[in-house]
Amino acid sequence: MSTSTDTIDLAVIGGTGLYALAELENPEAHQPPTHYGALSGPVRVGTFAGRRIAFLARHGEGHSVPPHKINYRANLAALKSLGATRVLALNTVGGITERFGPRVLACPDQLIDYTWGRISTLCEESGTEVLHVDFGEPYTRSLRAEVVAAASRAGVALVDGGCYGATQGPRLETRAEITRMRRDGCDLVGMTGMPEAGLARELGLDYACLAIVANWAAGAGPDPDEVITLQDVLDNVAAASAGLPALLRALLDG
Ligand code: HPA
Repeated sequence: MSTSTDTIDLAVIGGTGLYALAELENPEAHQPPTHYGALSGPVRVGTFAGRRIAFLARHGEGHSVPPHKINYRANLAALKSLGATRVLALNTVGGITERFGPRVLACPDQLIDYTWGRISTLCEESGTEVLHVDFGEPYTRSLRAEVVAAASRAGVALVDGGCYGATQGPRLETRAEITRMRRDGCDLVGMTGMPEAGLARELGLDYACLAIVANWAAGAGPDPDEVITLQDVLDNVAAASAGLPALLRALLDG
């Protein structure tokens, strides 16, 4: 049974299309109680590349929790209570700008939050200490650098940088919304990047995003009338994730 004194080398949160880490050896399921309620599902803690790692499916293992209903606070608090200090968030996204077409992997360095009505802070309950964490650089610089270096060592193509725009979902965006996001400076669009990144900062966790581009965002691709289907999203995530085990192995070896 894990306690908070056991170390977890890396916690991985999987997004749409990524509900398990097949390479995890001897996984044990943990669902620790948290101050914030129930998490999306079990945290699978096991061995990968000789290291102890934790995996949590953000939407639940059966993809039953929509982005606006995810208990981001409970998920992160649970990973921390199991001993995680650094989190690699896998986020399935749409690509907005030229370098971020379907099947690209990217490690964004900025984000813009367009979500609303989500509990986005640990300071929600009255009586809790108010935190004003620095968030100028929303992803942990050192962990991002390690991810980028690991991809390079593993020979996995990865775009270093980009701005992630977090939308409310669960519907996809209108073409006008994507045009506005492009004007704002967004390269990628997804529904789960926030409040997760902000909460990780409040919890003192190192946190980086590995974005997996599943489709061109609405109107952003060569065919502006293209209809985005879940099957396309899943097929592209599966193809783009082929290099993930090698990247993770290099990250854990680094
Ligand atoms: N928009 C928002 N979230 C997404 C998309 C998208 O186009 N594709 C995958 N997740």
